[in-house]
Amino acid sequence: MTAVIHASDLTKIFGKSTAVDHISFDVREGEIFGFLGPNGAGKTTTTRMLTGVIPPDAGTAMILGYNIRSEPVLAKQEFGVVPETSNAYTDLTAWQNLMLMGELYGLPRARAERRSSDLLGMVGLLERKDQKVQAYSKGMKQRLILAMALIHEPGLLFLDEPTSGLDVQSTQMILSLLRDLNTQGTTIFLTTHNMEEANRLCHRVGIIRGGKMVAIDAPEKLKTAIDRVHKIEVSFDHEVSADALAGLDGVIDANRSGDKWQITAENRDAAIRSLVTFSRQNGASIVTLNTLAPSLDEAFLRLTQEVQS
Ligand SMILES: Nc1ncnc2c1ncn2[C@@H]1O[C@H](COP(=O)(O)OP(=O)(O)OP(=O)(O)O)[C@@H](O)[C@H]1O
Ligand SMILES: [Mg+2]
Repeated sequence: MTAVIHASDLTKIFGKSTAVDHISFDVREGEIFGFLGPNGAGKTTTTRMLTGVIPPDAGTAMILGYNIRSEPVLAKQEFGVVPETSNAYTDLTAWQNLMLMGELYGLPRARAERRSSDLLGMVGLLERKDQKVQAYSKGMKQRLILAMALIHEPGLLFLDEPTSGLDVQSTQMILSLLRDLNTQGTTIFLTTHNMEEANRLCHRVGIIRGGKMVAIDAPEKLKTAIDRVHKIEVSFDHEVSADALAGLDGVIDANRSGDKWQITAENRDAAIRSLVTFSRQNGASIVTLNTLAPSLDEAFLRLTQEVQS
């Protein structure tokens, strides 16, 4: 598989503090890669180094085989950026912003116009194209910035917290646009601190904390890696004893919480089978049964705390 982004030993030092500390990773062609971390972890600094906004103090970033430092013009043709802070001019209209972006990438006027119409249609702003951006809502502005990042039809898109501060509707719209773009083949590097968003959208996530990469894997794998014991929540229509439950095959422990039992299981499948057998043998019907997967939030907290200690 081709590496679309290849970061090797990337490092940034501000004064006495190391904002990004020798991180290395690859982003593969066609994937949505989530770059997660708490505030101040180094996400934006990394994104800026990858996109050639600031130079690294050590290490290299390659974009589709081009070195972002020594071949910035070639590398920059390959990607679009939705930066952390808006890069749209508020005293210009959406259309003017797109034309300006087109010029920046050296697009012929006719192509820029065709592309802008398509993109404005895609982000639902065609009717507002001649309005100045200062009259736009936050969600509209963010959709315009996404359109601007796509003017030159890049195969790779960087987004730095694109849904931060947006309402549910605007967030959903942006995420569904990203999903569509990805389906059409665009590789996406998405910086976020929203675990749920990463969990739903990303093929793989990299977790950064204190400038260091602490884990890279598929969200599901990160979740299971941190929690090898499984939780099952079950309730019965009759009283049952804790000892009886705790003694079942595959069950480590049983604790009552309200009208439900929280079962800690070594082997989820075996535990569920023995719960079913138990209910049949004891004439106590199962009212509810849920398996509780660890959340990415839990995985994230666990991973980022391990580094602290
Ligand atoms: N230009 C700068 N000068 C000095 N320090 C900086 C500069 N930019 C970033 N930093 C520091 O580097 C660290 C990483 O910052 P960065 O903005 O990359 O974090 P982040 O993960 O994007 O955080 P957030 O979630 O808040 O956007 C922080 O401690 C920050 O204060
Ligand atoms: Mg940031």
